[in-house]
Amino acid sequence: MVSQDSRPYDLVVFGATGFTGALVAEYLAGLDASFSWAIAGRSSSKLEDIKQRIGMSNLPTIVADSADANSLRAMVEQTRVVITTVGPYALYGTPLIMACAEAGTHYCDLTGEAQWMASIYDKATAAANETGARLVHTCGFDCIPSDMGVFFAQQTMLDLHGCYARQVSGRMGRQKGAVSGGTVASMMLAVEQGASDPVARKALQDPYSLYPPEIAPGLDGSDQFGVRWDDKFQSWTGPFVMAAINTKVVRRSNALGSLLYGSDFRYEEATLTDNRRGAMMVAAGSAMALLLFSLKPTRYLLKRQLPKPGEGPSKAVRETGFFEFFVHAHHPEDSGNDVRVLVKGQRDPGYGATARMLAQAGLCLAFDDLTVEGGIWTPASAMGDALVKRLADADVTFEVIDL
Ligand SMILES: NC(=O)c1ccc[n+]([C@@H]2O[C@H](COP(=O)([O-])OP(=O)(O)OC[C@H]3O[C@@H](n4cnc5c(N)ncnc54)[C@H](OP(=O)(O)O)[C@@H]3O)[C@@H](O)[C@H]2O)c1
Repeated sequence: MVSQDSRPYDLVVFGATGFTGALVAEYLAGLDASFSWAIAGRSSSKLEDIKQRIGMSNLPTIVADSADANSLRAMVEQTRVVITTVGPYALYGTPLIMACAEAGTHYCDLTGEAQWMASIYDKATAAANETGARLVHTCGFDCIPSDMGVFFAQQTMLDLHGCYARQVSGRMGRQKGAVSGGTVASMMLAVEQGASDPVARKALQDPYSLYPPEIAPGLDGSDQFGVRWDDKFQSWTGPFVMAAINTKVVRRSNALGSLLYGSDFRYEEATLTDNRRGAMMVAAGSAMALLLFSLKPTRYLLKRQLPKPGEGPSKAVRETGFFEFFVHAHHPEDSGNDVRVLVKGQRDPGYGATARMLAQAGLCLAFDDLTVEGGIWTPASAMGDALVKRLADADVTFEVIDL
C-alpha cells in the first residue's frame, strides 16, 4: 500500500466534468486555504475546459474511467482522499469504492442509492478495516441535514439534560431548488432496480437495510406516506421524498455508534406544510411521481422531459435557493425539555449547497483529527463535531431554536 504521507494530493475530485463535480471544483478553487488537489474524469479535454472555467490553468488533472480498474488504482494511490460525483453510483461506483478500500484512500460521495449502499458493505468493509480507508456515503443534501442535524440535536440534549432522545423527528421546512440530470438518472435507476431485483427492492423498502447485519433491527416502520397532523410543530405534514434514504442513514449512525441513542431509538421524517390542503398536495404529488417513475412508458416520457446527465439548475436558481430543515428531539420523560434544531442552508439544496457540503466533508476527511478507523461510515458517525464546524464555511448552519 502506498503510504498516505507520500501521496502528492490531499484531495482528488473524480467526476469534475459533471454538473455537480464542476461545482465542487469551483468551490474548492475559491477557498482561501492551502491544500494540494487535482480534478479527475474520463475525458481529458473536458477536464481542460473545467480548469479554464474555474480559473486554475495549472491545476493537475488525472484521466480515469470507472470501467478501467488500473486507471482507478493509479488515481486513488496519488491522493489521501477521493471526492466522487460519478453517478449513478449503482452503475459506476463499485470499482472506485473498492479501489479506495484496498488502497487505504479515504472517500466521500453523494449517493442516495440505498440499494447500492447495502450491496457494498460485504464487499468493501474488510479491506477498509485493514487499510484504514474511511468511506463515507451521502455527504450532500441527502443526508447531511438529517444525519448531522440529529447528531447536533442529540449532543445538545446530552449537554442540557444529560441524556439522549429515544425519539427524533426530522421536518423539511421551506426550500427552493431544482434537480439535475444525474439525480434524475440515479432515481430512475433505483426504481428500475427495485422493480426487477428483489434484493434491491428489499434494500429500498426495509427501514433497517443499512444496519450492520450483526445488530437487530429497531422499532421503526415505513416512512410517512399520507397526511398527518403534527402536534409538536402545530402543522399538517406530508411525506418527504428523501426520507427514504435519510431515515436509514440516521439509523445506521446510531448503530455504528454502538446504539448510543438506544436499541429502541426511533427516527422519522415528513414535510411541513401551511395547511391540510398543502399536505394533501404533497402526498398526492409524491404518490403520482412514484407511479410515473414506476411505469415503463411514463418513465420513458419523463426521461425525455427532465434534465439529462450534465444538465442542472441555472446559476440564478442555485444562488437564490435555500433550505430549512428542523430536527425535534423528544426528551424521554419531560416534553418541556425537548430540543429543536434548525439546519439552514444558503443556495439550492441539491447543488449549490450540496457541492459545498461534499467539499467540506472531503476536507474534513483529509485534515481533521477523526477518531474512527477504516470502514464504511455515515457523515455523523465518521466526522461528528468536526464536520458541524466545517459546514459553517459551506453556509450550512445548526442552531438550537425555541419550541
Ligand atoms: N445527495 C445529493 O444531495 C446529490 C446532489 C447532487 C447530485 N447527486 C448525485 O451525484 C451524482 C452526479 O450527479 P450530476 O448531476 O453531477 O451528474 P452528471 O452531470 O451526469 O455527472 C456525472 C459525472 O460522472 C462521469 N462519468 C460517467 N461515467 C463515467 C465513467 N465510466 N468513468 C468516469 N466518469 C464517468 C461523467 O463524466 P463525463 O462528463 O465524461 O460524461 C460526469 O463527470 C448522481 O448520482 C446524483 O444522484 C446527489
